[in-house]
Amino acid sequence: MDIAEAISGRRSVREYTAQALDEQTIRSLIDAAVLAPSAVNQQPWTFTVVRDQVLLERISHDAKAHMLASMAADAQSEHFRLLLSDPKFHIFYHAPALILISASAQGPWIVEDCALAAENLMLAAYARGCGTCWIGFAQSFLNTPDGKKALGLPAAWAPVAPIIVGYPRTAPPLVPRKEPQVRWLG
Ligand SMILES: Cc1cc2nc3c(=O)[nH]c(=O)nc-3n(C[C@H](O)[C@H](O)[C@H](O)COP(=O)(O)O)c2cc1C
Repeated sequence: MDIAEAISGRRSVREYTAQALDEQTIRSLIDAAVLAPSAVNQQPWTFTVVRDQVLLERISHDAKAHMLASMAADAQSEHFRLLLSDPKFHIFYHAPALILISASAQGPWIVEDCALAAENLMLAAYARGCGTCWIGFAQSFLNTPDGKKALGLPAAWAPVAPIIVGYPRTAPPLVPRKEPQVRWLG
């Protein structure tokens, strides 16, 4: 697929079919992720693939509780509070797989590096007919000792990008973009 087509066609997908993701497909997405640039070529990323639905359900439950306990009381939080309080809301949308990109090294740019790998992975997934969504709701819990323990991550690793992957049940419409603020100097 042409890169412009992938960039303009990718959407965050929140409804998936029951079709499982095989290992070869997941490996091909990781192969694309690691082609991202990284500061001083550190390549600090690691990939934790979770296809165990019971584990994903448990992490969804614990991440919701963690978010609710730590959320600020503002208008936007109220919207999230309602969503996260709904026992039926599954933060991973019952996707067949979660690929968590974590940094295993330390440094000033590890988050940027992992985020670049995540975008590569999401674009490659779209090009292969898969859908993805970055699940920020999982991040703060996964960065706690309990969250790392749930996935067997070493304490020194920093989870950055929890990306769900699967086959889309529907084709989501484009989410409107704001007019970019551009300043021309010269
Ligand atoms: C850092 C980050 C965190 C996100 N967290 C969530 C999330 O927890 N749940 C969710 O449904 N979507 C999440 N999203 C998806 C955004 O809502 C989505 O990218 C945005 O609405 C634009 O839509 P698009 O990706 O279809 O272009 C997240 C996206 C990013 C980049």
